[in-house]
Amino acid sequence: MTTMDAISDMPLLEVERLCVEFDTRAGVVHGLRGVDLSIRRGETLAIVGESGSGKSVTAQAVMGLIDVPGRIVSGDIKWKGQSLLTGDGPKRAREIRGKEVSLIFQDPMTSLNPLLTVGAQIAEVLQRHLGMTKTQARTRVLELLEAVGIPAPPRRANQYPHELSGGMRQRIMIAMAIACEPQLLIADEPTTALDVTIQAQVLELIAGLQETLNLSVILITHDLGVVAGLCRRVAVMYAGRIVEMGLADDLFERPSHPYTQGLIRSTPRLDDRMNRLIAIEGSPPSLLSPPVGCSFRARCPIAVERCTEQPPLAVVHPGASAACWRPSVPAWQESPPLEAALT
Ligand SMILES: Nc1ncnc2c1ncn2[C@@H]1O[C@H](COP(=O)(O)OP(=O)(O)OP(=O)(O)O)[C@@H](O)[C@H]1O
Ligand SMILES: [Mg+2]
Repeated sequence: MTTMDAISDMPLLEVERLCVEFDTRAGVVHGLRGVDLSIRRGETLAIVGESGSGKSVTAQAVMGLIDVPGRIVSGDIKWKGQSLLTGDGPKRAREIRGKEVSLIFQDPMTSLNPLLTVGAQIAEVLQRHLGMTKTQARTRVLELLEAVGIPAPPRRANQYPHELSGGMRQRIMIAMAIACEPQLLIADEPTTALDVTIQAQVLELIAGLQETLNLSVILITHDLGVVAGLCRRVAVMYAGRIVEMGLADDLFERPSHPYTQGLIRSTPRLDDRMNRLIAIEGSPPSLLSPPVGCSFRARCPIAVERCTEQPPLAVVHPGASAACWRPSVPAWQESPPLEAALT
């Protein structure tokens, strides 16, 4: 192995046992309860899970955006092996955020400034982070608009956000996010506000940029349907924890955690419109007082006594881990449960 290989093999980002809490009038909300994940250079990871499972809070923590009433109570976030939370970490974090790591939000309308032309907003990022002159920034803006597939860049650059369609605005957000050539791009539900055709185009754009720029991408979504083909690995979140992690193809084929199985059963498949969708019964637990043990226990069809103990995220088969005492192959595979896992 050459030195270069060793470097590209080192995780870019590592999140370790991260816990985030929010002080609310109703009490302490345990938003993240020990999240572990890592991503290497050029890798693509999807974070999926129902509303409130902690997907955005994970992204916000990485971006340093957890603010009052929230706080990181324990755990660590490392960038290229160095903590961003301890020692010189916070200073380094301010340098890399927006530059080496950038975030695309769900709703471009709330994150773009309505009073500035889109060209001026992208130029501002270039001037602030890369120290470009106005003229340099202006040239680069046009290149970036071209790179994200915006037709007639010189004309579009002079328009205001409200003059552009939702899909175009999302492309502007992507142009801003890649302006400083980040190594990691976090896209938090980048397409939920868009219609299906535009959604597909935006995802295609992200996939194309991922490849040409050798970006690492974390794609956050509650829609399993958008993950396939775009992300190599998937982390499934439930009630502030990762309950399953594996290679996308494998995870869709044979999910081990009963929650992942339910999630897949409740996702429409383009090639299989006839099958009835089965929603997961019940709702996620309150994070004000999360249950002891497995948090999916109350909704789980195969829960047993032992589920009152928290199951660790453990390897279920090569490349796949699940936090479940009874990891099984789903019923639709018509195979018996892995009895071996119980002993
Ligand atoms: N500012 C806040 N104050 C109080 N609680 C918060 C705050 N931000 C997040 N939370 C709580 O943290 C938990 C995780 O929220 P998060 O936004 O990460 O969910 P999500 O998985 O992104 O959901 P969605 O799919 O709806 O975007 C939720 O229970 C939420 O209520
Ligand atoms: Mg969210």
